[in-house]
Amino acid sequence: EKQGFKHFMLKEIYEQPGVVRACLEAYFPNSAEIPVTLGLPADFYADLEQIQIVACGTSWHAALVGKYLLEQLAGIPTQVQYGSEFRYAPTPLTANTLTIGVTQSGETADTLAALGMEKERRQGKEFKYEARLLGITNRPESTLGQMVDNIINTHGGIEIGVAATKTFIAQLMAFYGLALDLAYRRQAITQDRLTEIITGLRQLPADIEAILETQEKYIEQLVHDFVETKDFIFVGRGINFPIALEGALKLKEISYIHAEGYPAGEMKHGPIALLDSKVPVVAIAMPGNVYEKVISNSQEAKARDSRLIGVTSVNDGEAAEIFNDLIPVADVEEILSPILTVIPLQLLAYHIAARKGLDVDQPRNLAKSVTVE
Ligand code: F6R
Repeated sequence: EKQGFKHFMLKEIYEQPGVVRACLEAYFPNSAEIPVTLGLPADFYADLEQIQIVACGTSWHAALVGKYLLEQLAGIPTQVQYGSEFRYAPTPLTANTLTIGVTQSGETADTLAALGMEKERRQGKEFKYEARLLGITNRPESTLGQMVDNIINTHGGIEIGVAATKTFIAQLMAFYGLALDLAYRRQAITQDRLTEIITGLRQLPADIEAILETQEKYIEQLVHDFVETKDFIFVGRGINFPIALEGALKLKEISYIHAEGYPAGEMKHGPIALLDSKVPVVAIAMPGNVYEKVISNSQEAKARDSRLIGVTSVNDGEAAEIFNDLIPVADVEEILSPILTVIPLQLLAYHIAARKGLDVDQPRNLAKSVTVE
């Protein structure tokens, strides 16, 4: 039931604070001795030297955020592959490797095939080469669930809209859990820093609620200007680069507008040639490591007459001057920010599609689970 919302997608966007709360409760039990509980056996991942993640679509974007967290918090080299690519060109076998499949449905053919291949080619090898498989899924009872011994359940609840929203947020939460669990077990993080990050995570549901309460109407108005727009560019850097990809994918899927996501620093290597007054640029500019860089990349876009929409927690004169439109999110540290910065992008895609009168929950040519190759 849509419970008063016009579409399931909007309802599911609004369910995200609750989903984050459910994940917090499941993964972070509020105990100093056991700060993270994922239910995974210690010997399963204590000696890891690398991680490879396979996924498709939005789950692949979650995996890219996961890579950032696993490398920056736990210090484990991590690579992310499309299921459809990995299955035909697998990475050479490496020792002490964890392979993670991320799929909300647990039924995506390419992701399952990549995991199945990994299981098979490692069979009979000595322990360090043995297949260690982990599934991150919203459906533990799925084919994926039957295929792997260890699962992180993403607690998103059933998602009906074809465009993934709340299950993406839940996948991100699973990666915070996994990266922090690994960081803690490997002593790659201090207790204080761990507590600081978990405390920050606990604040996020209220911060998402604030975006929904204060920005949805604004975004609904804003999209009046974009109904005829043919192309959009999304830029971000660091942990928000995958969010730029996700913003572009959401827009493509449900509004049928051509959109590209780029790491902001790559614009000058080609895509900037696309820019003019008809091509708006959405820039994710959160304070931290790369804020100044994103701002200077945004300035370059503005110089080509692009309308600039900023998703940022900075509300100073500089930001107000650069961005034609500014969508504020709470001032959280950069590493937590994807959970917030994706929300306005979901709303933007939703409202453009809704305004165009499109079938938001059942976009053309797409299926909720892609069980064919
Ligand atoms: C995007 C979307 C798809 C899926 C992809 C993988 O909104 O829904 O890109 O993310 O088909 O699906 P799962 O996660 O079920 O493997």
